[in-house]
Amino acid sequence: MFSQVNSIGLFGLNAFPVTVEISSAQGVPCINIGGLADLSVQESKMRINAAIQNSRIKFPKAAFTINRAPADVRKTGSYYDLPILAAMFKVTGIINEDLSDCAFIGEVSLSGDLCFVQGALSMAIKAAECGIKRLFLPIENAAEASVVSGLQVYGLKNIRALVSYFNKFINLEPEKPAEPYADALLSVPDFADVKGQDAVKGAVEVAAAGFHNILLIGPPGTGKSMIAKRIPGILPKMTFEESIETTQIHSVAGILNKEHPLVVNRPFRDVSHTASSVGLIGGGSVPKPGEISMAHNGVLFLDEFPEFDRKVLETLRQPLENGEITISRAAGSVSYPCNIMLVAAMNPCPCGNYGADGKACTCSRKQVTSYLGKISRPVLDRIDIQVEVPSVSYDELSDNRKAESSQIIAERVQKARDIQLQRFKGTNIRTNSQITPDILHDVCVLDSGADTYLKTAFEKSGLSARAYDRVLKVARTCADLDGSEIITKRHIARAVQYRTLDRKYWQ
Ligand SMILES: Nc1ncnc2c1ncn2[C@@H]1O[C@H](COP(=O)(O)OP(=O)(O)OP(=O)(O)O)[C@@H](O)[C@H]1O
Ligand SMILES: [Mg+2]
Ligand SMILES: [Zn+2]
Repeated sequence: MFSQVNSIGLFGLNAFPVTVEISSAQGVPCINIGGLADLSVQESKMRINAAIQNSRIKFPKAAFTINRAPADVRKTGSYYDLPILAAMFKVTGIINEDLSDCAFIGEVSLSGDLCFVQGALSMAIKAAECGIKRLFLPIENAAEASVVSGLQVYGLKNIRALVSYFNKFINLEPEKPAEPYADALLSVPDFADVKGQDAVKGAVEVAAAGFHNILLIGPPGTGKSMIAKRIPGILPKMTFEESIETTQIHSVAGILNKEHPLVVNRPFRDVSHTASSVGLIGGGSVPKPGEISMAHNGVLFLDEFPEFDRKVLETLRQPLENGEITISRAAGSVSYPCNIMLVAAMNPCPCGNYGADGKACTCSRKQVTSYLGKISRPVLDRIDIQVEVPSVSYDELSDNRKAESSQIIAERVQKARDIQLQRFKGTNIRTNSQITPDILHDVCVLDSGADTYLKTAFEKSGLSARAYDRVLKVARTCADLDGSEIITKRHIARAVQYRTLDRKYWQ
């Protein structure tokens, strides 16, 4: 007897269809699983045998030969227990229904219960693309997979439920699509608490609006960390597409909220400077996403920037440029998206007071140079907006009035983002920070005052070619915040000013 059922495999974010083929013959009961003869196959056999016994499912005495096709793709992970079992049920007539529109994903425990798997959303998306109508997977993954439209998702507690369902002893309802859920916003502190620092807040607003990387530099206790942690409250809303992308990564990383699986708030990943490059960039034998990918479509916050290992910081160069990170391991290479807004905060020297007004720096010239030197030129070049966070005056601190709230700032940011969504419709660009050289001059149209200003700035202050492109992109965002199609001198001046700090500190 021969039968086959559908499943979906996953490597990194890459899901692919897998067919589980089975043939049964009378004889000494046994299970042979072909394909890669690795440990995971042995373990799978052991689990399947135990699960069948412990679920008291009666099988005819038969020898099963099982093959997973295509043979040439890596079938790592333990997602194939359930499809193998479904195929066994089908070929023995324990299940008689036509399963050609179904797919099965899931690992089984010795007791016959189904265990949560990572990456279910990516697999569900692929299932729908392959024309699958009904997806059966562990009950804890059902909410996550239900986000995919055109797919009926059935969450199963155990393998008995599968058999009972297809024999109509029980009725299962497909999972209702997950409700969008915006919990994280409630816990984000408000910009209204930050006194003074108007210029810094303005810079942060531009960064959030155009999704530009930003560096906050200044003496201790001036509100750098405080300001950075308030950024989630002003970021524009995630589009559904962005939401799905980020959820897929969080799913593979195993950090999804099981009850509210769809990620609807932009991530804000506050990463400690003790992070390793694997932690930051990703890795492992079957490469998992790192913090930079978990922050996809949101913020990667690196506080105390120079305290990070220099090598770790250097690994950011390629992903910051490409919005994608490729990790190569023996098991294969995996790419994860990482379109992020980098927010970095730092003191300019070990004591913190170098360059600050009215405060004496106690560091030697050498100490200052070596401290700043931990941030290399290429890394610095990728940060569009660099802004000084000076000490706040007593009068500002003691002023009881609330500053502008995050909500008001967020409204302006959203408007500027909406303009960008409209501008880049039909392309794979979403924000000004992603403008490519081929369209730079089409979307950044300068009036003559702006042009003259930029020329002078370029010649007098020695902006680099990379800085030139980035100034234009930031100026584009300043103009969008202003609701202006044309970039004027004011917008350019602001963008140029955000690129002058590196000369104060790094030269
Ligand atoms: N502009 C400000 N308005 C209101 N409170 C402030 C401001 N700046 C600093 N503070 C107060 O000082 C505390 C320390 O600020 P914060 O941790 O943000 O400083 P920092 O610039 O990150 O310092 P460090 O360089 O030492 O990390 C805040 O928790 C807040 O109570
Ligand atoms: Mg701080
Ligand atoms: Zn110092």
